[in-house]
Order: sequence, then C-alpha cells, then structure tokens
Amino acid sequence: MIKPIEWCGSSLRFLDQTKLPREEYYIETDDYCVVIDAITSLKVRGAPLIGIAASYGVCLAALKYFHCGFESFSSHVQNAIDELAASRPTAVNLFWALERMKRILQSARHVEEAVSSLVHEADTILQIEKESCLMIAKHGAALFSDSVSVLTHCNTGALATGGHGTALGVILQLHKQGKIRNVYVDETSPLLQGARLTTWELKKIGIEPILITDSMAGTLMQQKMIDCVIVGADRIASNGDVANKIGTYTLAVLSHHHTIPFYVAAPTSTIDSKIKNGNEIPIEERGEEELTVIQGQRVAPLDLQTYSPAFDVTPAHLVAAIITDIEVFKSPYSFD
Ligand code: MRU
Repeated sequence: MIKPIEWCGSSLRFLDQTKLPREEYYIETDDYCVVIDAITSLKVRGAPLIGIAASYGVCLAALKYFHCGFESFSSHVQNAIDELAASRPTAVNLFWALERMKRILQSARHVEEAVSSLVHEADTILQIEKESCLMIAKHGAALFSDSVSVLTHCNTGALATGGHGTALGVILQLHKQGKIRNVYVDETSPLLQGARLTTWELKKIGIEPILITDSMAGTLMQQKMIDCVIVGADRIASNGDVANKIGTYTLAVLSHHHTIPFYVAAPTSTIDSKIKNGNEIPIEERGEEELTVIQGQRVAPLDLQTYSPAFDVTPAHLVAAIITDIEVFKSPYSFD
C-alpha cells in the first residue's frame, strides 16, 4: 500500500505529492517548520493526512525543545501547535488532531513523559484514521447491490488519509466485490488532484480509471454514464453541510438535476459538531499563481485579478448519505 507518511523515531518522512505522478520523492525532516510548509504548499494534503502530519509535527517540536526546562518546553510546543494550526483553515481534521495533541501536552508532568505520550498520540491518530477508512469502505460498499459506474472528485485515497481512503476506499471495496463498472475521475482544477493523484493511485491498486475534465461531468450524467457520485469531505457541519474541494457543489447540483445519488464519505474526525451549518466553515483562498501558471508556464496575462477558493460547501439537502466509520447517515442530518 502507498505510505504517504511515516514516523522514523526522531524524524518524519513523507511523500511530496506536488511531484506526483512524475516522481515518487520523499522528504525526511526533523524540523516541524518543514511540516508546516509541506501542509501549506500541499506536499502533504487531504483532510485526514493533514491532521496526521500536524500531529507528528508536534512531536518534532517536542524533540527540538527536549533539553529545555518543562515550562519553557511546554510553551515552545504550544507555540508550535498554534503555528501548525495556522497552516490551512478548512479541513477540521487538522484542529481535531491538534486538540488531541494539546490535551496530551497539558496532562504531561515532565518533558520525557510529554515526548513519549505525544508520539504515542500521533501514532494513535494515524491508527484511528486508518481504521476509519476500513469501516467507511465496509459501510459504503453495503449501500450497493448492483455494479455501478462512479464519478469521484479530488483525491481521497491513501495519499489523503494514510489508510485505504474515504471515497476511494469505498470504490476500492466495491471493486474487490466486482461491483465497479467504471470509475470516472474529475481532473479537479486547478491543482489537478484527480488527474495527478487519484488516477495514479487507482492504477497502482489495479483499477483503470477514466479521466475527465471537471466540465465534462454534466454531459456524462446526461448520457446516463454515471450511477452515483462519491466524494470525500474536509469539514461537515452539524446540519450535514459539506465543505470539500472546489467543484464538489457543482457536482452535487448536477447530480440532483439528474436524480443521481451524491454520497459523501468521511471519518468522524471530519465532522465539526461545534458549527451549525456550512456558512461557518472557513474557506481557504489560494494564491493567483495556482490559476495563472501551469507547470511553470504563465498561461494568463500579467496583473490579473483572480479569485481562488480551494473548497466549496454543498448543502445537506443535496447529499444522499454521509458514509462514516460509525454508520451511514441519511437526511435529516444532526451531528450534535
Ligand atoms: O486541497 P486538498 O488537496 O487538501 O483537498 C482535499 C480534498 O478536498 C479531499 O476531497 C478531502 O480532503 C477528503 S480526503 C479524504
């Protein structure tokens, strides 16, 4: 299985996803600031994996300040937690994981205890996300009795989760059960997580995907080539509104128009029961170069205004079911 991240005892090794599929390039670091940069620049990405990486980032900070007195150690590690929390705003898994790490830090009585407990907690977070993927796959696959052609968006596999994946985990499980006819993969503009990462992952696990551009989804639905859409999530509000990669909402509206079930697959770490609805989800905006420069080539005029939200919010009423590690939830959603 693809291993996008690995704790190496006193350093963190992770796959640089910006170089895929051209190169499988791993970065090994003992500096938590490198982890912050990796999250911000999407070398490490996908809601669960961001949380996992940040947890190990806290461990690197703890090792860095190991020789300080306990008070100074605690305050340095707390600062590192705050810096890691500022790396990306939308995926709630980041804050869920850092909150767990913070609680461990606060309950430690001395530096040695803090370091070993923090590493143990980061390992636990990775394990939780891996196990969640297995349960999501099981619950999701049980929704289908016949074979289906699926459309998915962005990347929700091992690269995004550290486990078998969320939406991609369900697709993999359906494939194992012989219930997949075709997997259509949206390219996922502008950073091409679908074209670069999902197709690469699917081919690695023996599924031949069919790549389309985001703008082709409507015509495929019109031609009855899609039986269902399965996507992941970065944050789910307590009323079931779902923030996910930009373009997801368009797919949900199209699915609704064509009476195609639109499923969201996500671990419970992606549910933010503190917020009432999607309006409260902070949506990350990315820089203009992600729209104006493609593979090092400027493709738009200079001095151009851009608007680049990285995520959108799909209202709960467009979601046929939310497939989690606990169970499959159906509307009306209430995650209190
Ligand atoms: O900007 P990214 O690549 O981190 O966005 C990722 C997504 O939107 C995924 O669909 C989401 O995190 C679910 S991953 C299991």
